[in-house]
Amino acid sequence: MNAAVRSVARIALQRGCVPFAIHEGYEGLVEGGEMIRRLGWGDVRGFLSIGGTVIGTARSARFRTREGRLLAAYNMIKNGIDALIVCGGDGSLTGADLLRSEWKGLVDELIGLGKLTLEECAHLREHLTIVGLVGSIDNDMSSTDITIGAFTSLHRICESLDSLCSTAASHQRAFVVEVMGRHCGWLALMAAISVGADWVFLPERPPPLNGEKYGENWEDEMCEKLSQNRKMGNRISLIIICEGAIDQNLKPIKPDYVKTILETRLGFDTRVTNLGHVQRGGSPCAYDRYLATVQGVEAVEAVLRSTPETPAPMIGMNQHRITAGPLMDAVKLTHEVADSIAAKDFKKAMDLRDPDFTR
Ligand code: F6P
Repeated sequence: MNAAVRSVARIALQRGCVPFAIHEGYEGLVEGGEMIRRLGWGDVRGFLSIGGTVIGTARSARFRTREGRLLAAYNMIKNGIDALIVCGGDGSLTGADLLRSEWKGLVDELIGLGKLTLEECAHLREHLTIVGLVGSIDNDMSSTDITIGAFTSLHRICESLDSLCSTAASHQRAFVVEVMGRHCGWLALMAAISVGADWVFLPERPPPLNGEKYGENWEDEMCEKLSQNRKMGNRISLIIICEGAIDQNLKPIKPDYVKTILETRLGFDTRVTNLGHVQRGGSPCAYDRYLATVQGVEAVEAVLRSTPETPAPMIGMNQHRITAGPLMDAVKLTHEVADSIAAKDFKKAMDLRDPDFTR
C-alpha cells in the first residue's frame, strides 16, 4: 500500500494536483487536524520497500455513522479536498461509495448548520470524486485478477512452508497449516500449488461428504491419498487449510480435527502451525511494488477523467492490463460469492471467483 501512496502522491504532483495523506484511514478523515497532511515529493521517499502502511489504517466505527461522515465531509472541504483515492478491501470501498452518494446532502447540512459557508463549498459542493484501489492479501475482490499485497503474502507463506518442510522431512512428520484469506481460498490454493502440498481445504470447494472415489467421506479420501503419497516415497505430508474452509454442511474444518485424523487413522507424527500475521508483513515483493505503482498512476488519471455522471471506478488488473470498472459492481459480485457459499451453491461460488482459474 505504501507504493500506492507514493505513486498517487507523485503523479498527482506531476499532474498539477495537491495530494494529501489521510492518516489512520477513515478515522483520520473523521478526526481531521493533524491527521490530514499535505504531501510533497520527498514525503514518500523510500516507501517502495516498506511493508504495511506508513500513513496508518484503522477500522473506524465513527465513519460508519452519518455523524462521522458529516465530520469527514467537513474536514475534507476545510482542506479543499474534492477527490478521494481509497486503498482497501470491499468494506473500505463501500464506505467511500457511501460518502460519495451522501455528499451533497452532507455539504448542504454543514451549510445549514452554519459550519461552512457557501463560498467555502463553491466548487466542492455538488460532487465528490472517489476512486478505489484494492489492497488486500486475500485477493478476494471480483473484477480484478489480483489485489495489492496478495503476492507478497503468498511469498511469505511459501517461505514459511519451506522452513517447516525442513523439520517435516527430517522427522517424517505431517504438518497441518492454516493460512489467511477469510472466505477466499486463493492464498491457500496458490501456496499449495507452489510448495507441492498433499492436500488443501478451500471455502469455495468444500470436500465431499460422500467421497465418490475412495470412501464414505473426505476423511477417508484424504487418508488414502496421504498414505499413497508416503508409499511413493514422500517423507512429509503437508496439509493446507484456508481459515474460512468448511465442509459441505458449512461446518468449519479445523486444523486440530485434521491433526487428530492423521494421528489416529494413519499414525502420523503431526504438528499444527498457524502462520498468523507473519503472512501480512515484511517487505513487499517486486510484483506488488509494480502493481501498486501502475495502479496508483491510473487512479490519478481516473480522478482527472471523472464526471458526476460516471460511477466511481475501481482500478483492477485483468490479463496484465490495468482496468477501471464500476466499483460497486465489483463489490456486489464479491458479496455474491459469499452468498453462494452460504447457500451451498459451490459451483456458482467457484465460477464467480474465476471460471478460468478454477478449471
Ligand atoms: O483480510 C485480510 C486478513 O488478513 C484476513 O486474511 C484475516 O482473516 C484478517 O485480515 C485478520 O484480521 P486481524 O488483523 O484484524 O486479525
